[in-house]
Amino acid sequence: MQALPIFINITNRLCVVIGGGEVATRKVSMLLKANAAVTVVSPEFSHELQEMAAVGKIQLIQASYAASQLNGACLVVAATDAQAVNAAVSNDAKALNIPVNVVDAPDLCTFTMGSIIDRSPVVIAVSSEGKAPVLARYVRTKIETMLPTGYGRIAAIAGEFRDQVKAKFATSQARRRFWEDVLQGPMVERVLSGQEQAARQLLQNLLDDQEASTNKGEVFLVGGGPGDPDLLTFRALRLMQQCDVCIYDKLVSPEVMALVRRDAELIYVGKSRDQHTLPQQEINELLAKLALQGKRVLRLKGGDPFIFGRGGEEIETLMQHGVPFQVVPGITAANGVSSYAGIPLTHRDYAQACLFITGHLKDGTLDLDWRAMARPRQTVVVYMGLVGLAQICEKLIEHGVSPAMPVAVVQQGTTQRQKVVVATLADLAAKVAAAGLKAPCLTIIGEVVHLREKLAWFEPKEHAENSIQN
Ligand SMILES: C[S@@+](CC[C@H](N)C(=O)[O-])C[C@H]1O[C@@H](n2cnc3c(N)ncnc32)[C@H](O)[C@@H]1O
Repeated sequence: MQALPIFINITNRLCVVIGGGEVATRKVSMLLKANAAVTVVSPEFSHELQEMAAVGKIQLIQASYAASQLNGACLVVAATDAQAVNAAVSNDAKALNIPVNVVDAPDLCTFTMGSIIDRSPVVIAVSSEGKAPVLARYVRTKIETMLPTGYGRIAAIAGEFRDQVKAKFATSQARRRFWEDVLQGPMVERVLSGQEQAARQLLQNLLDDQEASTNKGEVFLVGGGPGDPDLLTFRALRLMQQCDVCIYDKLVSPEVMALVRRDAELIYVGKSRDQHTLPQQEINELLAKLALQGKRVLRLKGGDPFIFGRGGEEIETLMQHGVPFQVVPGITAANGVSSYAGIPLTHRDYAQACLFITGHLKDGTLDLDWRAMARPRQTVVVYMGLVGLAQICEKLIEHGVSPAMPVAVVQQGTTQRQKVVVATLADLAAKVAAAGLKAPCLTIIGEVVHLREKLAWFEPKEHAENSIQN
């Protein structure tokens, strides 16, 4: 290690930046984040620097560089495009024992700032000792994606309890153990899901020795998206890797299931048509029961839990039992599947509205609002299997939609098993029957389907011949 990472408190202390261009502006913004008192010296200043000065955030000295401008500074940054000036700043600062940073000249620096991940008050800086700044930025991006943006809030709340914890635990070892327990417990997820009051209450309970109420489990109602695991949210993935038990159904793709924590108990509550493995009410009760046993329960759903996902019913039961929960949205099938099929759901020339519908056959008939579905200049997305599709086509034609209206049926969209059948209302039933599609399938009805001819981009590997066009 050639340089020691340290964090300097520069609040209200003079930092001098030599240079007034774009790079200098970036450095000034960084120094301001740390509440420095910044003076910028240059014959010319960027527009942004002038704006900052106008509102009193920084001081500008319009002049050529002179060593006397460094007097009293705690840090100096040289960001001019004149190498001789940069070298002079470096020499002068070193002579005055002021730490100096020269942009893109590691040999002239006595300090570098690294690539910063800011979760204030948690701050991480990545350095490559000036040898590979792009690599350092790449590492920073990786860490950014791993650390939820709410980490700073965890630190801030922990800070609020510092004195109480110090008063309660006499030794630093006991305090460390307390914080380790807290940071591996449910408090973290409460903060990250925006339930800060509940997080504070948990901490207070722990301090008041009310562990029983703190040890209650919780439920994560998570949308697993339409199938491609790359479409999971960061939060979904994090919770999937934390759960003790995962309750899932058929709609969750095997690729997404593969990312659930390996040691978690998996409970399948899948439903297939005519064959209800577990009635919804029993699923609701099961979630509450497992959480009340102290478990972290992942309820993993295909798509989004609140779009034809019965997520609302599940959390209603949790509410009744006083079980803490959070809901993580997922990409719903209409979004994911239409994107991967190259069919925008709205388009200035074809559709200004989009209707998501689902239907269940009752006594062999579908009870849908046909007039609303038959309106022009809209796209209709039908969330349901293939049964009833022929009836939908007939009814729409009956209600005035052209038999030539294009329709796409997409099997297992966003996965490597995606298959698309494009037809018209008139010939859809025959084409779908011939294609031998497997569930789940989504149907998109509207002029926008024509766009697939130009916009199809996704090439699933499992079907060399994946698309049947009309
Ligand atoms: C009970 S709904 C659940 C919808 C889910 N909550 C969502 O937001 O996507 C099930 C229907 O969603 C559609 N669906 C879900 N994932 C799909 C996929 N990957 N490809 C095609 N259709 C899908 C099918 O129409 C299926 O019958």
